[in-house]
Amino acid sequence: MREDVVAVENLRKSYETYLRRGLLRRERRTVEALRGVSFGIRRGEVFGLLGPNGAGKTTTVKILSTLLLPDSGRASILGYDVVRDAIEVRRRIGVSLTVEKGFFWKLTGRENLIYFGMLYGLDGRELRDRVQAMLEMVGLEDLGASDKLYEEYSLGMKARLSIARALLTDPEVLILDEPTLGLDPPSARLLRELLIRVAHQEGKTVLVTTHNMFEAEILCDRVAIINHGTIVAMDTVEGLKGLVSGEVTLEVIATLPARVSVDQLRAAISDVAVGRVDVEPTEEGIMIRAVISSRDKEEITQEILRKLHSLGCSVRRIEVKEPTLEDVFIELTGRGR
Ligand SMILES: Nc1ncnc2c1ncn2[C@@H]1O[C@H](COP(=O)(O)OP(=O)(O)O)[C@@H](O)[C@H]1O
Ligand SMILES: [Mg+2]
Repeated sequence: MREDVVAVENLRKSYETYLRRGLLRRERRTVEALRGVSFGIRRGEVFGLLGPNGAGKTTTVKILSTLLLPDSGRASILGYDVVRDAIEVRRRIGVSLTVEKGFFWKLTGRENLIYFGMLYGLDGRELRDRVQAMLEMVGLEDLGASDKLYEEYSLGMKARLSIARALLTDPEVLILDEPTLGLDPPSARLLRELLIRVAHQEGKTVLVTTHNMFEAEILCDRVAIINHGTIVAMDTVEGLKGLVSGEVTLEVIATLPARVSVDQLRAAISDVAVGRVDVEPTEEGIMIRAVISSRDKEEITQEILRKLHSLGCSVRRIEVKEPTLEDVFIELTGRGR
């Protein structure tokens, strides 16, 4: 833990809120957003904090970015405490929280970066070259968007600019809250590739939050799964998948006769599955997804096929899938995305 670039120990944070009870009565309520969160991130690593909405991801990154004080616990970046040495921390991190916030709508992307570069103490040739390099790096130059007004930017362009700003001072540590949320696929892909490159080739340390398991799987070297303010698992994606080894997901596409309801079908399959059963209509037919034990997968598959047959379903396609991060996530958090 000692060489960790980002070290988080037992962070706790509660918010006081008021719940409306009728017209005049308000009830005070405490929300425990973080209930003792600990993790460490090594140099050159892309580390993902993965969790559903409300899990505590934003609270964690705000504390690490020195924007919010924890109630207790400690966090440090490059050995600097985020509370005591906040100024030192700020000098060494690049942050992108809410993508749309904090830019000037009536300035171009380039002008925005020049403005922030000046705030960060860059100037002259160095500033202009650095801004140009960042505009190229995040692909705004290729999109012909560097000199467009920010107010004309698509969400993908705004996200790119936000990352460009985070990278402007060449920080050792990048902290990004849901950087690809709502982006078009090309922008999301470009940003992921960029983050992997700056971590693996330039040795920067990257913390990203996401509620997207696919993203965590392709982007992150290690992942901490957070739920209700608690880290419930932390490992490489492969390691996490090992938590549900012994289980596979059976996917069947079948036609459903009109007299059989989806609930009837689900009930019939649930008898033989070890985990969750999902039934949903698709273009090809009804899709049945069931987590089954990998040891008895042949037997169980036969049993499911027999059940489908007796309900009058005809099977179009059948596939056995190895566990994904999604399976781990659902197993540990008890909910999907
Ligand atoms: N400013 C706030 N006031 C009151 N409650 C908050 C505030 N910010 C977050 N929360 C609550 O804290 C919990 C964690 O929120 P957050 O850290 O934003 O989660 P995430 O980013 O994973 O969605 C949620 O229950 C949320 O409603
Ligand atoms: Mg959030």
